[in-house]
Amino acid sequence: MTETDRIGDEWFPVARAADIAAGRWLPFGLLDERWVLACDNSGRVEAFVDTCPHRGAQITLGDFDGERLRCGYHGWQFDIDGRCVHQPAHPGRRPPAGVQLKRALVRAGYGFWWICTGDQPRDLPVAPDHDAYPERTVWLDPVRVASSAPRIIENFLDLAHFPFVHTGYLGQEPHTEVARYGIETSEAELRLTDCVFWQPNPGPAAAGGGPVRYRYSVSHPYAATLTKVPSTSEGDPAGGFTILIVASPVTETECVVWRSTVVHDTGADLDAQQAFNDLIFSQDIDVVESQRPRRLPVDPRMESHQPADAGSLAYRKWLGARGIRYGTISTERG
Ligand code: FES
Ligand SMILES: [Fe+2]
Repeated sequence: MTETDRIGDEWFPVARAADIAAGRWLPFGLLDERWVLACDNSGRVEAFVDTCPHRGAQITLGDFDGERLRCGYHGWQFDIDGRCVHQPAHPGRRPPAGVQLKRALVRAGYGFWWICTGDQPRDLPVAPDHDAYPERTVWLDPVRVASSAPRIIENFLDLAHFPFVHTGYLGQEPHTEVARYGIETSEAELRLTDCVFWQPNPGPAAAGGGPVRYRYSVSHPYAATLTKVPSTSEGDPAGGFTILIVASPVTETECVVWRSTVVHDTGADLDAQQAFNDLIFSQDIDVVESQRPRRLPVDPRMESHQPADAGSLAYRKWLGARGIRYGTISTERG
């Protein structure tokens, strides 16, 4: 990470709300560092670097009793503030005050636990409806992907691959044309509006093909939402939904993808929706992992483009304006 990179000020999900409970800890990787999310017996959740300040061992090789994190190498114990409170080799001696674990900021939102490793945190991505209808929201299993987080988001914004990668579901030849869509950019958000595409089977409840209308919002460098606007008048029989996708970067070329979907229709089958979203995403993974370079090329000269790529080019530019270089590559950086 370069010194001027703003990626450390962003929030990233590292667990779903249901993944952690009192007395549990969860190791995870984020931004080239290993971390642990710990929930004490009172339900307080904190995140620490998972490396012992004594000799650098991984603390989660030890144990956690809901009060103290104990390193497995020499048994040093840390409280939920990250302070070292016991060094077994010197049982009667109080450890010096400065011995403590490095912490990250933690917050809950949209049914996830989010971490910010910097000290000037920005906002969570805007995710319409995601806090409003938990009874109509599904939180999908996280997926580890061998690619950069920006490649994941760019794939999520891309319509032209539907007939080839999601054949029979989100697209079907000869319906390959990508109609011109709207692009609105501000420092806070990139929006793609009025995206219309012909789909043979646009959702779990679909009964036939037709044009589908989407809009996308990017208000966080590695997150996006897709809202499918239901429109029976255009021959689209499926209900609407909003998908939130966030790629938490383990390194510049590997990430963990978190997704949740809010279904607009109160009678929708959430299990079917979950299975459908998982199927579609599994089709994307092979192709995204095959992309070279794994980091997203932000210099337009590094790849060839077609008019349908206007949204992805806008995303690349928006990342630069936001001060994000992590997970990207430009000719100057080589
Ligand atoms: S390395 Fe953790 S106690 Fe020594
Ligand atoms: Fe896809």
